[in-house]
Amino acid sequence: MANDEEITNKSVNRPFQDILNVNLSRRTVMKGGLASSVAFFAASNPVQAALFKSKKKNSLIGFEPVPVAKGNGPLPVISEDYEYEVLIPWGSPLEPGGPSYQGDPNTRPTAAEQREMIGIGHDGMWYFPIKNEKAPRCGWDEDWEKWEDDDNWYENNRRYDNGNRHGMLCINHEFGRNSHVLGKSQPENLGDVQLSQHAHGVAIVELKKEYGRSWAPVKSKRSRRIHVNSAVNFSGPAADSELLKTKAGNAPLGTVNNCANGYTPWGTYLTCEENFNGYFGATNTTDTWIASKEQERYGFSETGFGYGWEKFDPRFDLSNPEYVNEENRFGWVVEIDPMDPTQTPVKRTALGRIKHEGATITVGKGGRIVCYMGDDQRFDYIYKFVSEGNWRKMLKQGKSPLDHGKLYVARFNDDSSGDWLELSIDNLVLAANFANQAEILIHTRLAADLLGATPMDRPEWISVAPNRDVYCTLTNNSKRTVPDAANPLAPNSDGHIIRWRDSNKHTGTKFAWDIFVFAKDSHGTEQSFSDPDGIWIDPDGRLFVETDGGQKDGLNNQCLVVDTRSYYPAADMKRLFTGVSGDEITGLTVTPDRKTLFINTQHPGNGDPTLTNFPAPTDGVTIPRDCTFVITRKDDGIVGS
Ligand code: FEO
Ligand code: CA
Ligand code: CA
Ligand code: CA
Repeated sequence: MANDEEITNKSVNRPFQDILNVNLSRRTVMKGGLASSVAFFAASNPVQAALFKSKKKNSLIGFEPVPVAKGNGPLPVISEDYEYEVLIPWGSPLEPGGPSYQGDPNTRPTAAEQREMIGIGHDGMWYFPIKNEKAPRCGWDEDWEKWEDDDNWYENNRRYDNGNRHGMLCINHEFGRNSHVLGKSQPENLGDVQLSQHAHGVAIVELKKEYGRSWAPVKSKRSRRIHVNSAVNFSGPAADSELLKTKAGNAPLGTVNNCANGYTPWGTYLTCEENFNGYFGATNTTDTWIASKEQERYGFSETGFGYGWEKFDPRFDLSNPEYVNEENRFGWVVEIDPMDPTQTPVKRTALGRIKHEGATITVGKGGRIVCYMGDDQRFDYIYKFVSEGNWRKMLKQGKSPLDHGKLYVARFNDDSSGDWLELSIDNLVLAANFANQAEILIHTRLAADLLGATPMDRPEWISVAPNRDVYCTLTNNSKRTVPDAANPLAPNSDGHIIRWRDSNKHTGTKFAWDIFVFAKDSHGTEQSFSDPDGIWIDPDGRLFVETDGGQKDGLNNQCLVVDTRSYYPAADMKRLFTGVSGDEITGLTVTPDRKTLFINTQHPGNGDPTLTNFPAPTDGVTIPRDCTFVITRKDDGIVGS
């Protein structure tokens, strides 16, 4: 629902015009994972293979749901072996005792109240356990490299039981339409605009599950809201660029359209700005504003998505000369410390400016940080960033691993190979078109066009499997007319999931790729799904898939699970959960013991109370509210304990 319907990539990169011979049967060589089909990569690390065998019987995803969920109405449906509770709906207090909005159709929160509440548009999120003092700071994901050396590392490091009941949830509030948030199509004053702005952003909320009770927010010094008017800092190579300064001299503020997310081994949260263009418009009273080439490439227009912020907040008025360049301050990955409420969120310019779906971090060769990122628009690209050095050493030197490194964009060749093309001012083509590295990073899309990156079918989430295969959802592309090997369906109505493996433990410039599944192959089966979007692969190699789009076979949007070692996943997927009419399912995180799973419903009923009133009981009038689901197995002894 949140996607930008336009196509802004006019470059029509087609580096290989001779590839119309589409290979739809490629997946038949895929049994056992990508590595086994690709001669020039080393075989799967045997220790990683051992990790795959560690199926935990009692973990949430010992997962053989019978029967699978199959919902198409106003209420969620969950597989029989599981149960869910509702957590932090839009308008609930950030802390107990705070202001609350429960869906009354005759009123809305004030902007000041909304600032103290959970936002709307629940999307990417991550749970950071708070553990006993002896435990490492942010936990179970801190020592990723140790997976390679220690078969039992995961088991050994989930012994801090309180972290499974107490933690900081960082959650993105991607968007809420005016009709949903304001109860009208246009803001009538600055207060309306600020209500909308405060409903967007991020919530950092301290949660606890007391024995015998449900998960709930607690009084907290750490809980906070970050929204469109919160202070932010810029860091990295573009931080001091003139292109990030305005004539008005206003300090950088805010983050918006926070879609998917990432998390770092040093315990921070990454929130990603996606369709930021839609919040800008032009009042254009003198009729002089026309989009520049750069603005066009990012989809800026006179009306934006119709939020109307520009009418009362000049920062978002593209035709106000005082605020030229304000739009360049959005489109970044933003780093947040969930444990330090005094930290100012940092926009990491080295990661480029695109419509960031997410920022998926893994540790590559030599302890370097590798960050995979999709740019979600039709015919846009997949990127990766590789830090300059070992992340621990860089932090010790006082350098952020996300500030120093190389940014690449992906070219998928038709012979199943691929190349990562570096976006550097040292490249002669880029040097001829950009003044410096900062300009390349601020206009990343235009630089990537010049290098001949492969236009993809809307890259959404990315996740890395324990065997180092990288998976990316390509959610759909109704406008594709010319297929290529990596995007072989034209049009691509229902999406597919592509995977690749990089050379040199994620840090190299070569990769091999294959297609994991086409959604259309599932239609008419028990496991029918379309429009894959959110994904996460657990340490045992199970892939969780969440959907956002019109599902087939009479289903609402859903969450499914599939073993990435499957030979033919479309038939092997298991549906865990279906949402409510009009929603999408997105966002996914787990407690360290993986017995508790959190997922979200976003825009339930698209805000229309005649479709659903969830999470309120069905009454036909209460405004439906985005919320998180806490999912557990019925037999795991957690609920009620
Ligand atoms: Fe915010 Fe591309 O989903
Ligand atoms: Ca969305
Ligand atoms: Ca998405
Ligand atoms: Ca989507």
